[in-house]
Amino acid sequence: MKLWGGRFETGPSEVFERFSGSLHFDKRLIEADIRGSQAFARALERVGILTADDRAALESAFEEILRESAAPDFFTGATDEDVHTLVIRKLGEKAPAQAAKIHTGRSRNEQVSLDTRLWLRGETERIQALLVLLLGELLALAQKYPAAIIPGFTHLRRAQAVLWPHYLLAYFEMFSRDWERFEQARVRINVLPLGSGALAGSGFPFDREAIAADLGFAAITRNSMDVSADRDFVLDFLYAASVTMIHLSRLAEDWILYSSDEFGWIELADGVTSGSSLMPQKKNPDSLELIRGKCGRVTGSLNSLLMTMKGLPLTYNRDMQEDKEPLFDAVDQTAMSIEMAAVVAGSVTLRPEVPASAADESWVVATDLAEALARAGVPFHSGHKLVGRFVLESVRAGKKPSDWTAEQLTAFAPEFTADMAALLNPAEGMKSREVAGGTGPGAVAAALVAAQQRLVELRR
Ligand code: ARG
Repeated sequence: MKLWGGRFETGPSEVFERFSGSLHFDKRLIEADIRGSQAFARALERVGILTADDRAALESAFEEILRESAAPDFFTGATDEDVHTLVIRKLGEKAPAQAAKIHTGRSRNEQVSLDTRLWLRGETERIQALLVLLLGELLALAQKYPAAIIPGFTHLRRAQAVLWPHYLLAYFEMFSRDWERFEQARVRINVLPLGSGALAGSGFPFDREAIAADLGFAAITRNSMDVSADRDFVLDFLYAASVTMIHLSRLAEDWILYSSDEFGWIELADGVTSGSSLMPQKKNPDSLELIRGKCGRVTGSLNSLLMTMKGLPLTYNRDMQEDKEPLFDAVDQTAMSIEMAAVVAGSVTLRPEVPASAADESWVVATDLAEALARAGVPFHSGHKLVGRFVLESVRAGKKPSDWTAEQLTAFAPEFTADMAALLNPAEGMKSREVAGGTGPGAVAAALVAAQQRLVELRR
């Protein structure tokens, strides 16, 4: 069936039908399409196009279609152009007289926006809930080893010692901001477009605020041409999803490294790893690799829609139908990746002694020494140079920081004092980093408490 055709002498070519049909993917929107149409039927009753009986007949016919759509073969063989057309065809089979009126003053241009918004609002909330799950797992993993020390990296070279929970809380921050980004996207998604008509505004005096209240939208759109032309609420979602995936892929990369034989810091549970068909000893971090891989796919979806929208003349163009497959795929992949990351985080065991000795064996304490000199009045540039020479000497002698005694340190240069030797232990220098947001043990303990409180708020 078509929702148009009067003006045509011949029907569409078979190739064009195959090329342009969207039912095979937009069928996902069927529930949103029906809920939106039921609300529209109520609006049509309020403006006097439908009687109460018409409206009731339509509402129950819609309900029946929704029930039937759960059957596995519901869409099999359907040749309708899109889901909106299919729903109206089914409606015509159940309540023909009333079905012929349902599209009064309504366009698919606003309907597709409405359906996408209704559906995406729910999916955004689902993804936000999954992020909260992940935040909980990261926090639990941080609390499990509150005093573990790891070398923090810059350039993937050991830089300064940090607490393990400090490292994990960095990701807690990223994923909390992702939650906020989805919340901001949700606010822009949660706006009612209905009443806009094809582009010029509906020809019927709908109380759009009432329709918004009916469908749980927080506001109504302000310009009908904007509605037909706009997909930036989808772009907002895709951007939030892309940044989340980038954060996930960085976490994945960290843990792929940290669980390797070369690092040996963490162990991933059997349940999230795979073996090799040839090499019997292998335990591969495939779950994390797939998260990292899917990041490319989701950011690709964002780019795909950005390119689709670029340069489109106002208002609706059929190009915009190309928004759905990238969006649906991004929703699926992002939701699954967050869920997977939460399970992996729950499965991680830290071997605290391994990163601790990585910190001990390296010169992650060098900055602590240079800063101690500065505190004692040595200009930082001079102290930096002096510690650099001490590190060079140590590297030449094949010594690690703990191989030096207080006597040897003070003998190296008069600026060093015996008490500074304590800083050759990474756990000591860390205590000077109690600045807000730093890795000082007190600052980290407070950050853990604050993160816990934020999690409690997010769970509400
Ligand atoms: N399937 C179409 C889409 O997703 C629905 C809107 C059709 N509107 C039109 N003017 N052809 O964009």
